[in-house]
Amino acid sequence: MRSYSADLESVAAILREAREIVVFSGAGLSADSGIPTFRDGATGLWNNFDPDEVASIDGFLRQPRVVWNWLRQLKDLVDERQPNAGHQAIARLEEISTAKRLTVITQNIDGYHARAGSAQVLEVHGTIHRLRCHQRCGFVAIWEPSAVEPFPCPNCGAPARPDLVLFGEMLDEEVFAAAEVRSLNADVFFCVGTSFTVQPAAHLPMWAKSAGATMVEVNPHRTPLSAAADYSVRSGASQFFSALCSTLQQENKENG
Ligand code: APR
Repeated sequence: MRSYSADLESVAAILREAREIVVFSGAGLSADSGIPTFRDGATGLWNNFDPDEVASIDGFLRQPRVVWNWLRQLKDLVDERQPNAGHQAIARLEEISTAKRLTVITQNIDGYHARAGSAQVLEVHGTIHRLRCHQRCGFVAIWEPSAVEPFPCPNCGAPARPDLVLFGEMLDEEVFAAAEVRSLNADVFFCVGTSFTVQPAAHLPMWAKSAGATMVEVNPHRTPLSAAADYSVRSGASQFFSALCSTLQQENKENG
């Protein structure tokens, strides 16, 4: 088992040669912001709520108020909290790395990557900050605090709903296709704070690896992908990415 600092040095060295970097993130990245993950121990949201009832399309069409209220409470928590050192370090990595591009592909709906300053973010599960028409007639709006209960789309009368992927729904094809292309072109593919439970997003790391990427997993616990990762770093996201940025900034200073 390599030491943490050895992993850090090796990953920093690999980044120096990388042209395309992808950071694939899950709920674990926002844990340090106080946003509960979905499957972690007693605090995991799906250990306390039934996703079919509060976060599925069937649940929404059956009882729109239940899904609307549950997501509204999650949004209020997201709005109260803020991006953490891990989000900020990933945004800083985009600035200080010598790569041509750093793309964030996130399963998270909290919008924290963009708030922390990341410029290239693909939200494959959508966002909790926007509403749209369920029939995709074109209506889109910011989810304002005043919108406390479901309402009909002002354009076509179909239900308005949060612009995120509910269980039982397909992902936005355009966003996922872009995520696939960036993953297949990645030289380094970071997997941060995800249990790789939900498809098709969870395919991306192995597609990247099969296309030649070096896969770096950052997670305090082992996951089904730990064995396939080139580096499986047992660390919290904030700690690892902050240390990685410091290492790179130090090297940039030494190399002038
Ligand atoms: N740093 C890094 N990883 C962490 C941290 C941390 N500080 N804290 C927890 N983790 C790890 C956990 O070990 C776990 O492997 O984050 C992972 C969180 O896993 P999940 O709760 O399953 O979240 P995620 O993988 O994002 O879920 C995927 O499932 O419910 C759907 O749509 C939802 O996007 C979500 C998808």
